[in-house]
Amino acid sequence: MSSLEELKLELKNLGQEYAKIKTLPESERKAFGEKLNAKKSSILNAIREQEEAAESINIEPIDLTAPFGENTSPFKLTRGTKHPLSIELDHVAEIYRQMGFSVIEDRQLDDEFHMFDSLNFPAGHPARDGYDTFRTSEGFIPPAHTSTMQYRALTRFRDHLDKYGQIAVVIPGRVFRNEDVDATHEHTFYQCEGVFVSKDATLGQLLATWQKFFETYYGQKLNIKTQPGFFPFTEPSLEFQIEKPKSLGGKGDGWLEMGGCGMIHPNVLKTAGIDPEAYKGFAWGGGIDRLVMLKYGINDVRYFESGKLEFLEEF
Ligand code: DAH
Repeated sequence: MSSLEELKLELKNLGQEYAKIKTLPESERKAFGEKLNAKKSSILNAIREQEEAAESINIEPIDLTAPFGENTSPFKLTRGTKHPLSIELDHVAEIYRQMGFSVIEDRQLDDEFHMFDSLNFPAGHPARDGYDTFRTSEGFIPPAHTSTMQYRALTRFRDHLDKYGQIAVVIPGRVFRNEDVDATHEHTFYQCEGVFVSKDATLGQLLATWQKFFETYYGQKLNIKTQPGFFPFTEPSLEFQIEKPKSLGGKGDGWLEMGGCGMIHPNVLKTAGIDPEAYKGFAWGGGIDRLVMLKYGINDVRYFESGKLEFLEEF
């Protein structure tokens, strides 16, 4: 059988044959023309047949009964992995759970009351501008820190004070700030908040809680230190630092800022319906991204939100 190209060439040459009709004697023209027409229609038929055959060859039949797998699926299959921050958030929550804390979920859209009022930010106080908060056009606030959950933790577990003599809750969560993004700043990141209330909670217990957490997370003894800070929702307020873990290249000279903490301000307890004369509390909050970056030697926070598969597949 002739190839498609050959047939097309034949068809073209046939065009020149038609031109010869004029040179023939009148009596022969009809028969010659009919012969050419017959030849032309047989070439056209052959071309159509070949084109139809080529089309059906290109359509690969799909076997709908085939199992969905690497060798049978037309799609490339890759196994999904958990996001590194999800893995580490689970790990963080588990450490606190083992230390006796309940773990509750945060929310990703909050309001003025939980972001500021319930946390003792005075109305119109400049500290309200210090959190680079986003706002929706309806006036909602994507939380700028997990402290927005303090009021909910305190009210939801208030009855634990009578039942167990204490409230012990941590809240891992996703937070948002209107920041310029660079290697150490993201607009979307993660924090973990902790809240503890009892009749005689102390700063010493707070520091021991955090030290225990960090030593468990990094699996080694760590030096810690604090420096004075300011947060409207704690009094006194502290910033918490750990010495860079030795296994991660620390030489006893690098201090890393890990978050803020302090004794819960009496107004915060009062707003949540807890008598500050009868109960004391401490709270703390720190970044998870930073914790994880240090653990794995990740030098750019933007990897986490990048969606880059080469990065995600490493975990
Ligand atoms: N929410 C604060 C921040 O993101 C950190 C913080 C400070 C949380 C003191 C606390 C606290 O619970 O008591 O900057």
